[in-house]
Amino acid sequence: MYNIIQKNQSLCHLNTLRLKSLAVNYVEFSDINLLPSISKYIKEHKCQFFVLGGGSNILLPEVYNGLVIHCKLEGVACISQNNTSMLVRAMAGEQWDKFVEYTTLHGFFGLENLSLIPGTVGAAPIQNIGAYGVEVCDFIEYVEVYDVLEKQFKIIKKKDCHFQYRNSIFKKMPNLIVVAVVFQLLKEPILNLEYVDVAKCMTGVTNVTPVELRNCVIKIRQAKLPDPAIIANVGSFFHNPILTNGIVNKLKSNYNNLPVFRVDDNYSKISAGWLIDNLGLKGYRENKVGTYEKQALVLVNYSDATQTDILDFANMIKNKVKQKYDVELNIEPIIIEKG
Ligand code: EPU
Repeated sequence: MYNIIQKNQSLCHLNTLRLKSLAVNYVEFSDINLLPSISKYIKEHKCQFFVLGGGSNILLPEVYNGLVIHCKLEGVACISQNNTSMLVRAMAGEQWDKFVEYTTLHGFFGLENLSLIPGTVGAAPIQNIGAYGVEVCDFIEYVEVYDVLEKQFKIIKKKDCHFQYRNSIFKKMPNLIVVAVVFQLLKEPILNLEYVDVAKCMTGVTNVTPVELRNCVIKIRQAKLPDPAIIANVGSFFHNPILTNGIVNKLKSNYNNLPVFRVDDNYSKISAGWLIDNLGLKGYRENKVGTYEKQALVLVNYSDATQTDILDFANMIKNKVKQKYDVELNIEPIIIEKG
């Protein structure tokens, strides 16, 4: 087993923010049968660890002293079906967007609005990825995991995943390594066109296919969000704050353009991108780090930034937002400490 552990592996090309980062210990696994040995290594060395997928929602430290477990599990299969729906199982290391392409090409409805999101299938339930009115939890049936502490494979049913806006039980339980996700997708269209840009793009299209809706979402994303293959970023950098309606109404009376989205009878979500943009900080750059010119919620690494550079810039933004609006922003990607 120990001969598959590599020493001092650079992670710079394995994270979409392209942070300079070195893993003191690193292992790739494309076979679930390696997981018990990896667990044994962690226990014997009493080391910290984290699982790396597409590296599109993490902030890596310059040196990580623990073990990086890079998930390379592949495979997609339809496992059962009835008249209206299809259960599809995808292994955790599959590229998310390739998987969405597969489901849409097979005519299954559900994941179209989540097209072009970077990262892997295994990472999708962890932060409950969402876009254009859809969250991945809407279509998850269960998640298959390996529990590193208990050394056993388990199935976590959707109701036990505690999915919330960009959150799930997996963020609190890093001992659970996602190995596969099972989705329930639809044979008949139930389209989510609640997002204005999506509705506009689909106007006049009759008998919508999943591929058409996917193409429309791809166009919208490409117009607003930077391609991580070209511009180093991790998508939205802050959560959209969820606040009581009392606080939101007060803000709205001062800033009547502030976009507000209903959560429930007591809470609303406000747009963090708008708050930053309204401070004049869209496209603002300090040294190696800046906000993206078309979306203030996205931070960009312009050259050789480290985790500290990114966090300093993010704290500057947080302080300005707090001063101006008395609103606390929370960082969305997972911050990995040095281990
Ligand atoms: N806005 C501005 N200026 C900006 C950015 C946004 O005025 O610089 C305004 C927009 O005009 C719009 C509102 O704020 O009225 C919302 O903006 P947008 O539709 O771009 O979405 P978002 O709330 O900034 C969220 C997700 C994105 C997802 C989009 C679309 C979060 C943290 N982000 O962004 O997800 O693609 O909605 O559904 O919830 C991601 O998580 O990495 C991500 C990209």
